[in-house]
Amino acid sequence: MKGLYSIAIDGPAGAGKSTIAKAVAERLSYVYVDTGAMYRALAVYFLEKGLAPEDEKGIAEAVGQAEVKLAYQDGLQHVFVNGRDVTGEIRTEAVSAMASASSRYAAVRAHLLELQRELARHQNVIMDGRDIGTVVLPEATLKVFLTASPRIRAERRYVQLQEQGKLGEATLPEILQDIEARDYQDSHRANAPLKAAEDAVLLDSSGLSEAEVTEQILKALSEKQKEQGMVKEQA
Ligand code: DC
Repeated sequence: MKGLYSIAIDGPAGAGKSTIAKAVAERLSYVYVDTGAMYRALAVYFLEKGLAPEDEKGIAEAVGQAEVKLAYQDGLQHVFVNGRDVTGEIRTEAVSAMASASSRYAAVRAHLLELQRELARHQNVIMDGRDIGTVVLPEATLKVFLTASPRIRAERRYVQLQEQGKLGEATLPEILQDIEARDYQDSHRANAPLKAAEDAVLLDSSGLSEAEVTEQILKALSEKQKEQGMVKEQA
């Protein structure tokens, strides 16, 4: 990993991880790796196989046959399963539910771990997910744990669904309930639960703009790079 930098961004759904990670990636010309998209791509595969979310054995068997790959087209991440681009299919409610359920299983996590680490071995990356600072890249140059209050995250999701014309019958209290249920599931599972790494910078985006969060991360990174440079010089 000599000469390469990596930024890990973890946090609950709706905290703004992907928006911020994309903005930081652009500013630094780093590659943005959305690990949630990989869990979602596997979920598409499990759903196609007709597997139930609670069928751990079936899912563990199926995952061995699912080859996940990432490629970048016009700077955007595309995710493939067994050669098929599933990028356009991964943002549905059914896929979100299957991704959240199947990402609990050790076999599913193990299947993606090496691929995620490999991506950080050859390029500067900013990677977002739930366990990047704690499990995937424990040596990351900078670890950020990005949160926002459940209420703010629900409001953001509500506006986003409204803008996309996908709100349907959903109400704000229902969206809030969904977010709290997903938080609980992601942070209470036995395998790689959502939690801040001990050395993560904690950022609450509730009262901050995208530009403010981006600036804070850039500043934190340059401090870490200086610290590392000093450690290398002393060595
Ligand atoms: O970030 P997202 O909502 O696209 O992630 C989809 C699901 O995948 C989410 O329920 C948690 C899971 N996930 C995970 O367990 N570990 C990661 N590094 C990224 C996502």
